[in-house]
Amino acid sequence: MKLFLDTADVAVIKDMLPTGMVDGVTTNPSLIAKSGRNIAEVIAEICALVEGPISAEAVATDFETMVKEGDKLAAIAPNVVVKLPLTWDGLRAARAFADKGVQTNVTLCFSAAQALLAAKAGATYVSPFVGRLDDHGAVGSELLEEIRALYDIHGFETQILAASLRHPAHVTAAALAGSDAATLPADTFKALIKHPLTDRGLDAFLADWGKTGQSIL
Ligand code: E4P
Repeated sequence: MKLFLDTADVAVIKDMLPTGMVDGVTTNPSLIAKSGRNIAEVIAEICALVEGPISAEAVATDFETMVKEGDKLAAIAPNVVVKLPLTWDGLRAARAFADKGVQTNVTLCFSAAQALLAAKAGATYVSPFVGRLDDHGAVGSELLEEIRALYDIHGFETQILAASLRHPAHVTAAALAGSDAATLPADTFKALIKHPLTDRGLDAFLADWGKTGQSIL
């Protein structure tokens, strides 16, 4: 499963890149607003830093303007993925981009029926929002399982990009559900490695090693 960073903060991306675990980046209008930067500039900078797919979201709600915005975003760099909302116009735009070989990420997916439509529209990725479904009283990770089954039964190639992941258990649930990718904020990314027994075990090993007076180098 690919791991993407869900941020438009270049400093955060630079901080996480040395882990070698950042396979791509996703942004959305709220994250761009939080960055306080111009969308074209920040997406260009992220694309230069990370080789993998970088999602940049169109904000128009009508098909024609969405396509114009998507064209402009896709022209920034070859690894831009045009992010589109799960609306009829968004799906129509996804089909138009698929037909001309531009990658898309159909976002704001909250049901298997919506995911079916995204796949039929030729979306490269579909983004089911796990955490927001949990907030709504559902079990978000169950949607990932349903979409996996649906896509496998019908041979759809659209990749499942688990989104709105708030903690490590969401990420492991996404992996166990067979998601192709997961996008997570830096805090959740960093939390993946944490276990108190790892810290305690390392402390004990180092303390015992210190007593030997040895040096490996
Ligand atoms: C990513 O593509 C989504 O926009 C993002 O994961 C949403 O996360 P949130 O529900 O925490 O805002």
